[in-house]
Amino acid sequence: MSQSRQQLAEQLAEAVFQALHDDLSHQQRALLVVSGGSTPVPFFEALAAKPLPWERIDITLADERWVGMDSSDSNAKLVREHLLQGDAIEANFLPLTCDAATPEEGVDEVAKLAETLAWPASVVILGMGGDGHTASLFPDSLELGLALATEELLVAVRTPSQPQPRITFSADRLHQARRHILHITGDDKRAVLAKALNGDDVRQLPIRAFLTCPLAIYWAP
Ligand code: 6PG
Repeated sequence: MSQSRQQLAEQLAEAVFQALHDDLSHQQRALLVVSGGSTPVPFFEALAAKPLPWERIDITLADERWVGMDSSDSNAKLVREHLLQGDAIEANFLPLTCDAATPEEGVDEVAKLAETLAWPASVVILGMGGDGHTASLFPDSLELGLALATEELLVAVRTPSQPQPRITFSADRLHQARRHILHITGDDKRAVLAKALNGDDVRQLPIRAFLTCPLAIYWAP
């Protein structure tokens, strides 16, 4: 891990700590929505070390691959191993999968539970892929139009470029937050973000769906 990525993770953890701390000074519960993938690991570890009233914090994921919770592709496993550690184990974590065989069959069950979280979220932290996807809003998702337009919480998505079916919060639900943060690293993603900032077609680069709300960008080389 480069020093600048580690510093970025620590600065992001400090900002998220402050946000949760501030919101919990005037509300009973607060919700944090995190992303999976590889970028967030040092951030998760830095945040887990913060002195927060974790038992008053709900945590969920922006999206998930429809795999078992012990699969190495499971974002829930990533959160359990790197964020729900030490005192942070007291947080109420809602994974986005259930026992159903497919996301299409399981989406309503997960949505019912997700509705009970402390919306609007205090913070939504997004990642971004080289194709401009964020959460599981991929340019080639068959359900991209639906996920961008629906007021439903969650959408089951099939994406030719991805090996597994997925479930994702809709753009509408991900917008329901007090603060939005994009956490990205590397020159390739900087170039994708620059391209996204230079146009409007959300279906081409779905991260654009979040360039209309205040979006704090945490980037390091
Ligand atoms: C996932 C995500 C996804 C991720 C980006 C970036 O489950 O894959 O939540 O949207 O944030 O693909 O992933 P990396 O951090 O691995 O580059």
